[in-house]
Amino acid sequence: MRLAILLSGRGSNFEAIHRAFADQIVCVISNRPDARGLACARELGLPAHAIDDRKFPAREAHEEEVLRVLAGAKPDFICLAGYMRLLSPAFVAAYPHRILNIHPSLLPAFPGVDAQAQAVAYGVKVSGCTVHFVDENLDAGPIVVQRVVEVRDDDSSETLAARILEQEHIAYVEALLKLSTQTWRIEGRRVIFE
Ligand code: GRF
Repeated sequence: MRLAILLSGRGSNFEAIHRAFADQIVCVISNRPDARGLACARELGLPAHAIDDRKFPAREAHEEEVLRVLAGAKPDFICLAGYMRLLSPAFVAAYPHRILNIHPSLLPAFPGVDAQAQAVAYGVKVSGCTVHFVDENLDAGPIVVQRVVEVRDDDSSETLAARILEQEHIAYVEALLKLSTQTWRIEGRRVIFE
């Protein structure tokens, strides 16, 4: 399996994927040159590319450059790991059912930013994380893996986020393991493993 990672920040999900699939990561791309995750990738000796979106006149031009690097890396799966950019429909169409994202809630609850704060404010008793295929809508594609986390009465968004993050690291590895070792198909919105 050839994996490309797209990230914008801390990169702890990237590190978890690296711990499980070290020799299968073929490139790491960040739209933020100062992302901690990009520095980690460099320290690990991986091909690490800073493609600063602020240096491109438009989203299309930035995506073209990301797609150019990806084309050279020939990934089977592209893992968004805290990548804070929306992908255009054209980008998604270039890799159908091969782009994955992780989101810190049980989708379809609480899409978008600050999912953990949304969960605390809403008063749900459980939340968690979701690994899903990326489609042209935000946090909306077919779901591969979900893991549940209890929301405690004394949780702040930070304490909940920390416990969800532990489960994110397990969920991303589980999703990639399943997709790479099992037979699967997509029926409508459902990812079916045989
Ligand atoms: C995670 O909470 C992920 O679910 C969200 O962004 C955060 C990234 O964290 N999409 P990290 O950069 O992987 O540590």
